[in-house]
Amino acid sequence: MSDRYAVMGNPVAHSKSPQIHQLFAEQTGQALSYEKILVPLGEFQQALEAFRDSGGKGLNITVPFKQDAREVAHSVSERARAGGAVNTLLFESNGRIFGDNTDGTGLVRDLRNNHAVHLAGKRILILGAGGAVRGVLPALLGELPESITIANRTETKAIELAALFNAKLPVKGCGYDALGERFDIVINGTSAGLTGELPPLPHTLLREGASCYDMVYGDIPTVFQQWALEHDAALALDGLGMLVEQAAESFFIWRGISPDTAPVIEVLRQAMA
Ligand code: ATR
Repeated sequence: MSDRYAVMGNPVAHSKSPQIHQLFAEQTGQALSYEKILVPLGEFQQALEAFRDSGGKGLNITVPFKQDAREVAHSVSERARAGGAVNTLLFESNGRIFGDNTDGTGLVRDLRNNHAVHLAGKRILILGAGGAVRGVLPALLGELPESITIANRTETKAIELAALFNAKLPVKGCGYDALGERFDIVINGTSAGLTGELPPLPHTLLREGASCYDMVYGDIPTVFQQWALEHDAALALDGLGMLVEQAAESFFIWRGISPDTAPVIEVLRQAMA
C-alpha cells in the first residue's frame, strides 16, 4: 500500500495540494496518495488521530487549523515556533509528531529561484498583520533585508506583531496612513483581495525597479497585482509559485527528496489560463 498524506482544512475543496503532490510523486517515482479532508470546526484533534491511526504519514494543515496543528505537535521547527503556525505535520515512527511551517520558505524561494528577487539588503513592506503574515516573517527575516515594515488596517496589530520579531534588523509596524517612504519589495499578505478590495495604499510607495508580490492567487491579475502594474512595479507576482514551493518543502520533510517545482508551476498556470 502506498503511503498516505492529506491536507486538512475548512474549507478545503478548492485546495490544489492533491494535484501538486501527485505531480511531485510522479516526477520523483514515489508511491504515495494525497487527499483532501474537510474537518468540522472543533474536531481537528479527532480528525488527526483518525488519519494517523489509519496509517497516515503526514499532513498539510490549512485555514483555520494552523495554530491547532502547532499545539498537537510534540516538537516544532524554529520557523514554525516563531511564525506561530504549523502547515506541515510529520508522523514519526516513534509516535511523535513533528510540526513545521514551509510557507515562508515557499515565498522566499519563489521570489529568489523563480523570479531572481533577492531580499538581502532590501526595504520590505508587508501588508497585513494576520496569521498568514506572521507565518512568513521568520523566513523573510532570515534573508537579512535592510528593514521590514508591517502595515495594517488595525495599526495596533501591526505594532504588536513587529514587536514579536525583535530581531537584529529593524521591524516596525504602522497603519497605512503612516506610510511615508518607498520600498523595494511590497508583499500583500492581507485577505482583502478575496473580496476584491485593496488596502488604502499611498501612490508613492514603490522605489524604481520595485517588486510586488500577492500571497494569494486566483483571478489573474489580482487586485493588488493590478495596483502594482498601475504604479510601474518592475514585477507584479501572484502567490501560485509560493503555493508550489511550500508544497515542495513539505514533500522534502516527508520524503527526503526535493522535487523540481518549475514544471508543476507551469501545469497549474496553464490550468488557470
Ligand atoms: P490570515 O490567516 O489570512 O492572515 P487573518 O489573521 O484574519 O487572516 O488576517 C487578515 C488580514 O487581512 C489582517 O491583517 C486584516 O486587517 P485587520 O487586522 O485590520 O483586520 C487584513 N484585511 C482583511 N480585509 C481587509 C481589507 N478590506 N482592507 C485591509 N486589510 C484587510
